[in-house]
Amino acid sequence: MSLYPIIRPLAFALDAETAHRATIAALKLAPKRRPPDFPDSLRSTVAGLDFPSPVGLAAGFDKNAEVPEHMLGLGFGFVEVGTVTPEPQAGNPKPRMFRLVEDKAVINRLGFNNQGQAEAWLRLRECRHLAGIIGVNIGANKDSADRIADYAAGVQAMSPLARYVTINISSPNTPGLRQLQDEGALKALLSAVSEAREPGGPPVFLKVAPDLGEGEPDQIVRAAIQHGVDAIIVANTTVSRPALKSRHRDEAGGLSGAPLKPLALKALRDFRAASGGKIPLIGVGGIATAEEAWERMRAGASLVQLYTAMVYEGPGIARRIALGLAARLKREGIASISEIVGADA
Ligand SMILES: Cc1cc2nc3c(=O)[nH]c(=O)nc-3n(C[C@H](O)[C@H](O)[C@H](O)COP(=O)(O)O)c2cc1C
Repeated sequence: MSLYPIIRPLAFALDAETAHRATIAALKLAPKRRPPDFPDSLRSTVAGLDFPSPVGLAAGFDKNAEVPEHMLGLGFGFVEVGTVTPEPQAGNPKPRMFRLVEDKAVINRLGFNNQGQAEAWLRLRECRHLAGIIGVNIGANKDSADRIADYAAGVQAMSPLARYVTINISSPNTPGLRQLQDEGALKALLSAVSEAREPGGPPVFLKVAPDLGEGEPDQIVRAAIQHGVDAIIVANTTVSRPALKSRHRDEAGGLSGAPLKPLALKALRDFRAASGGKIPLIGVGGIATAEEAWERMRAGASLVQLYTAMVYEGPGIARRIALGLAARLKREGIASISEIVGADA
C-alpha cells in the first residue's frame, strides 16, 4: 500500500523547496532497497546500456547525487542525477520553486543550485558497487567565463563514475545557456565534448528545450549525429505559458508537469521526424501514466523520464507505469518494449 496519500498533505503544507529538501532528507534515512525485478518484456538496450525498465527519474530531483540508489530501489529503471556544475553555486534567490496544484504542474527558477561536481563525485563513488543505471547531468556555472570549457571539464570529471553523461543546454534559468542550442555554438560545444571523451567512456546524451523554432530540431540532430552524441533527451521545462489556473501561474521560470505534455510530445515528434530513428530519443515532460509513456514511446522515445508527476502521485509512480506498460505488452501480444518504439512515427 502506498503511504503517499498520507504524506502528501504534510509535504504540501510546506513550500515546494522545503518539502523537496525534507523528502531528500527522509529518503537518506531510509534503508536502500534492492531494485524490484521487472518483467523481461521491459528490458531494452539503448546507447549500449541495458535498461531493466524504460521509466527513469529526470534530472533536478536529486541534484547532488544524494539518493540515486534509493530512487532505483523505489522502482525507477534509471536515475539521472544533477544538474551538477564544476563549481558549487547557490542558484537564484528564494522562493524559486512553485507547485501549481490545480494544473498538476511546477514552475522552477532554481538556476542550477548544486554542491558542485566534486561533492557529487564523492557520493557516486560510494554507490558504484550497486547495480542500476545512474546518469549524471552536467551544466555550466552561471558566472563561468567559458561555458563550453565547463562542459568539457564536466565530461572529464564525471565520466569515470557515470553510466551516461547528459549535456544540459536547455535550462531556462541560467541566462544565455539555451543559446548553446544554436547551430554554431552547438557544434563548438559538441566538438569540445567529443574531444574530452575518453575511449571506452560512458555514452553522452544531449538534453534540449521544448521551445525550439522551425528547423532547429533538424540542425540539432545533424550536429548530434556528426559529433557522436548517443541519445537526445526531449525535453526540459518550457518558458511558454499554456493556459494555467493556479495562482502561481505568472511566476518566472520553467514550467513542467501536465501542461508541458502536448509541447514535449510535439517536440519529440519533431525530433523523430528529423532523425528518422538514427539516434535514440528519450521522452520527458508531463508523463504521469502508463498510457502517456506508451504514447511517447510509440512516437519515438526509446526511454522515458519523469519528475513532476512524482510530486503529485508519489514515488511509487515509476513502478506503476512500468507494470502498466508490461501489462499492455502482454495484452497486445508484444514480446518486448523496444518493438513499440517509433511505431507511430
Ligand atoms: C524543480 C525542478 C528542477 C529541475 N532541475 C533540472 C536540472 O537541474 N537539470 C535538468 O536537466 N532538468 C531539470 N528539470 C527538468 C526535468 O528534468 C524535466 O525535464 C522536466 O521537469 C519535464 O518533466 P516532468 O514534466 O516530468 O517534470 C527540473 C524540473 C523541476 C520540476
